[in-house]
Amino acid sequence: MSGDFFWRRVQSLAGLGLVVFLFFHLWTNASASPWWGGENVYAAAVNRIHAMPFLGWIEVGLLALPLLIHTLWGIVYLYSSSYNAFPTDGSAPALPEYPRNRAYTWQRLTAVLLIFGIAAHVAHMRWMEAPQAVSNEFEIQTAAGAVRASSFGSAVWKMVQENFRSLPIQVLYTLFVWTAVYHAFNGLWTFLITWGVTLSAHAQNVSRIVTRLLMIGLGFLGFLAIWGW
Ligand code: HEM
Repeated sequence: MSGDFFWRRVQSLAGLGLVVFLFFHLWTNASASPWWGGENVYAAAVNRIHAMPFLGWIEVGLLALPLLIHTLWGIVYLYSSSYNAFPTDGSAPALPEYPRNRAYTWQRLTAVLLIFGIAAHVAHMRWMEAPQAVSNEFEIQTAAGAVRASSFGSAVWKMVQENFRSLPIQVLYTLFVWTAVYHAFNGLWTFLITWGVTLSAHAQNVSRIVTRLLMIGLGFLGFLAIWGW
């Protein structure tokens, strides 16, 4: 087995792991919206996650490492890709009329956006806005001053609510969620071909419909956390 074949499969499997994470992440976040759950439901979910034993190791092994592997090899593949979805002067092939050629290009454009989007999102919500422990309570900063909550989950809920009061943040997160769900579920469609699950044209048509429905459904959950207040 060639090294390139092996690492392509590792990159692909890591991508599937990230799809599973994205699913649970957007599902949990949707419960922050009063339309879906609200403060108590969301706070309980966050507190449950934070009470998990070995959470730090789980985050590193099941999230950070797959993301790092997928991204590093993804960058290698970005450099070795040939794009044919844009009109050219004739010196290179251009077949923009085929939807799969456009999807191939979008898969890679969204990958570049995700590198910056994920870095900004982690820096924003995990570090800059993270609740601080203050004498048995958790404190966040809002436009009206410091606000405290009795549990970490409640403080995170207040922080999320405060952030999505801002229109520029809502717009940025809307683009981020759409980019992530497109990359994840267009990627899931190619993943099923990569692993030999959908080989016939019929199977690929069915899986295209299923992955598009998942894309729209999960995108809707993501938008609920941003706009559903
Ligand atoms: C939300 C995070 C992400 C998820 C859920 C995700 C998911 C996926 C999935 C499922 C695939 C398809 C794998 C296959 O066809 O076998 C894929 C492909 C790809 N991803 Fe990601 N990915 C994420 C982030 C990134 C990032 C940050 C990069 C940065 C470079 C990236 C670069 C790529 C590339 C280049 C491909 C195409 C590989 C190929 O077909 O040769 N991905 N992704």
